[in-house]
Amino acid sequence: MHISVIGTGYLGATHAACLASTGHHVTGIDRDPDQIARLSEGTAPFHEPGLDRLLREGVDGGCLRFSTDVDAAHDARVHFLCVGTPQQDGTGAADLTALESAVDALTPLLDRSCLVVGKSTVPVGTARRLAARLQAAAPAGESVTLAWNPEFLREGQAVQDSLRPDRLVFGVADDDADRLLRQVYADAVRAGVPVMRTDLETAELAKVSANAMLASRISLVNLLAEVCEAAGADVADLTGILGLDARIGSQFLSPGLGYGGGCLPKDTRAFVARAEELGVAESAALLREVDAVNQRQRTRVVESAVAMLGGSAQDARVSVLGAAFKAGSDDVRDSPSLHVAAALEARGAEIRVYDPQAGERVRRTQPTLTTSASVEQACRDADLVLVLTEWEEFRGIDPVALADVVSHRRVLDGRLLLDPEKWRAAGWELYALGRGRR
Ligand code: UDX
Repeated sequence: MHISVIGTGYLGATHAACLASTGHHVTGIDRDPDQIARLSEGTAPFHEPGLDRLLREGVDGGCLRFSTDVDAAHDARVHFLCVGTPQQDGTGAADLTALESAVDALTPLLDRSCLVVGKSTVPVGTARRLAARLQAAAPAGESVTLAWNPEFLREGQAVQDSLRPDRLVFGVADDDADRLLRQVYADAVRAGVPVMRTDLETAELAKVSANAMLASRISLVNLLAEVCEAAGADVADLTGILGLDARIGSQFLSPGLGYGGGCLPKDTRAFVARAEELGVAESAALLREVDAVNQRQRTRVVESAVAMLGGSAQDARVSVLGAAFKAGSDDVRDSPSLHVAAALEARGAEIRVYDPQAGERVRRTQPTLTTSASVEQACRDADLVLVLTEWEEFRGIDPVALADVVSHRRVLDGRLLLDPEKWRAAGWELYALGRGRR
């Protein structure tokens, strides 16, 4: 099937490459010429394991192409909308400008029966409005239909999550749209991935609801961690106990610096904003607290770092290990680690950041921060070392060797990665978020 994918960021580029790998002819469209140039060469503009290979195979095999010209989408039977819906300045609501302009650019091309499928994360109610707008303005009128098919991909596992998701959600208005989506995802459906057919509104809510639950879980575990620290209990043991409860499960129970990235923070806020518009402000206040607890983890780390430095960060050399919002990704959007780095820099600290993948992005987005090429380089003469992203590389740091590199043996573990006994035996003062000094 000929398919177009409008918007080739994290979501669209992965989706396009995965669809092409299952035998479709895919055209990816984006207005960013640099991104399109890289994708046309078969290279992902961001770090995502397995994606380069799929892109290269698709481009070389002739079933995947990219263009800045939306006209290239003309012949597609199915058009996927994958543009970003960032947080609006000042409010928590989603900014739909890019989505609306993508729809407006696509509409005049729709002169035959086709299916437009929204994948972007939107406030509930958007799809029905866009469907009416499409049918009123497209040359093919009512033979253009709209469906909603949210994505749930995690950065770092995006290819696997796209090819074999836990479930597929088809928000459709009729059987034809359902049938067409089953053809698009024939490979996954054949492999037994469950399909949930639903209305447009439920499909729109699926993604933000999943992210609201995940965010709540992380903030709840961080609340437990704070209580453990105050009471002298061990949060790692506690989450181990909770995880063995079959009703709770063990995933998404890691305490620490909290969540960041392009989805959980903004989706939770957009969910609150939409819930308030729909008149459910009182209950949605729960998610405001989830967000507040998450932000507080960052403040707690800044305050603990200053305390470890003896009350002032002025002129202190602080090494920040980890810049990506999570391990396995080079994404620094709403990165808790960079938030902490910037706050300590504002208090006069001299910061050096090392991340195994995100160095280039740090240089582009936070040019005042100095980046280093290795753990050792970042830690040279440091007064304090902060471990802020859960990269395995950091778990393996040898505290004995690092002791000779730093100026002061002080380390703050923001992700419960380090073995306290080993670090203390090597003479380090160690503070672990949620575990304190035990
Ligand atoms: C998330 C959702 O998981 C995905 O389904 C959705 O489509 C997009 O948003 P992603 O943003 O890639 O994916 O990251 P995720 O793996 O969910 O992690 C989010 C944040 O939570 C990271 O900052 C991570 O470090 C943090 N986290 C995760 C914790 O602090 N503790 C945990 O136990 C798990």
